[in-house]
Amino acid sequence: MQSNPSTEAEEWERRGIEADSRSQHAEAEACFAKALTYDDSRQFSWVGLAFSQINQRRVDDAVASLQRAHIARPTCGIISHLLKAMTGETTSRAPNDYITFLFNGYAANFDQHLTSLQYQGPQMLAELIKRAGWAADGTRHIIDIGCGTGLSGMPLRAYAGRLEGADLSASMLEQALKRGIYNHLWHGEAHAVLRRLPAGSYDAVVAADTLVYIGDVAEFFRLAHAALRPGGDLLFTVEACDEGFALVKSGRYQHSDAYLKACADGLFSCADRVDGAIRTEAQQAIPGHAYRFSKPAA
Ligand SMILES: C[S@@+](CC[C@H](N)C(=O)[O-])C[C@H]1O[C@@H](n2cnc3c(N)ncnc32)[C@H](O)[C@@H]1O
Repeated sequence: MQSNPSTEAEEWERRGIEADSRSQHAEAEACFAKALTYDDSRQFSWVGLAFSQINQRRVDDAVASLQRAHIARPTCGIISHLLKAMTGETTSRAPNDYITFLFNGYAANFDQHLTSLQYQGPQMLAELIKRAGWAADGTRHIIDIGCGTGLSGMPLRAYAGRLEGADLSASMLEQALKRGIYNHLWHGEAHAVLRRLPAGSYDAVVAADTLVYIGDVAEFFRLAHAALRPGGDLLFTVEACDEGFALVKSGRYQHSDAYLKACADGLFSCADRVDGAIRTEAQQAIPGHAYRFSKPAA
C-alpha cells in the first residue's frame, strides 16, 4: 500500500512538536526535516525546523532553513519576518500572520511563560500610574492595545470605569475574556482598532509589550492621540536601543528614546519614564522603558 505524503508529513510534524515540548531540540529538528521531505510547503515544519536549530545555537543553519522556507513559501509572513529578524533587516512592523501564529500558539501557557521570563511590564505600568497620581476611583475610560491575556489590564482595572482590550490573536482574547476584567474586547490589528475608536473619548491608551511588534510607531501615536481626550495619557513599554528603531533576532523591535520623542513631536509631551529590565531572555536582562506621554490639555 502507498503512503499518503500529507499524512506522513503531518505525523512527523506532530512528532516534532512533541519533541520540542520536551526540549529535545535535535530530535525535533530531525522530525521537522523528515516532515518536509514529504511536503515542503508546510510553514509550521519550516518554522519548527528553524527554531530547533536556533535552540541548538546553530543560527547559520536556521537562516539557511528560513531561506529555503522562503523559496517554498514566498508569501508567508511568518517565515519572511523571522528571516529578516535573523539577517538584520528592519521592517516597519511584524506581519499579522506572524503575530497570530506566535500568540495563538502561546496563549494557553502565556502567563506561565512570561512569569518565567520575569516580565515586568505590568509592574512598570503600575509604577507610572502611581507616579502620575491617578486616583483609584474607577472612573477612567481606558483601552489596553495588545491586551493579550490581560496581564497588563490588571494594574489598570482599579482606575477604570470602562476598560477595553484589543488584540489580533483570538486565542489571547479568549484568555483575556476568562480573566473577567475587561468591559469590552476588540478583535483586530492595533491600527485598525484605533481607527474605529470615537475621537477624543479615552482617558488613557495603553500598549504594554505591544510596540515590540510595531517598529515604526508614528501612525500608532497619531491614532492614539486622536482617540484620547485633551490631557489624556498614552502609556507604553518598549525594549531599548540607542538609535531609531530596529528589528532584532528575537523577532521583536527595539526603540530609542530619541526616536520615540521625535514621533511624539507635536502630539504628546513626555511626562514620565520608568527604566527597568522588561524581561530576561537566555539569562540576559533586556533593558526597557515604560513611558507616559501626555496629550496637551485643550
Ligand atoms: C507580549 S504580548 C503582551 C500582552 C499584554 N499587553 C501584557 O503585557 O501581558 C503582545 C500582545 O500584543 C498583540 N499584538 C502584537 N502586535 C499587534 C498588532 N499589530 N495589533 C494587535 N495586537 C497585537 C499580540 O497578539 C499579543 O497578545
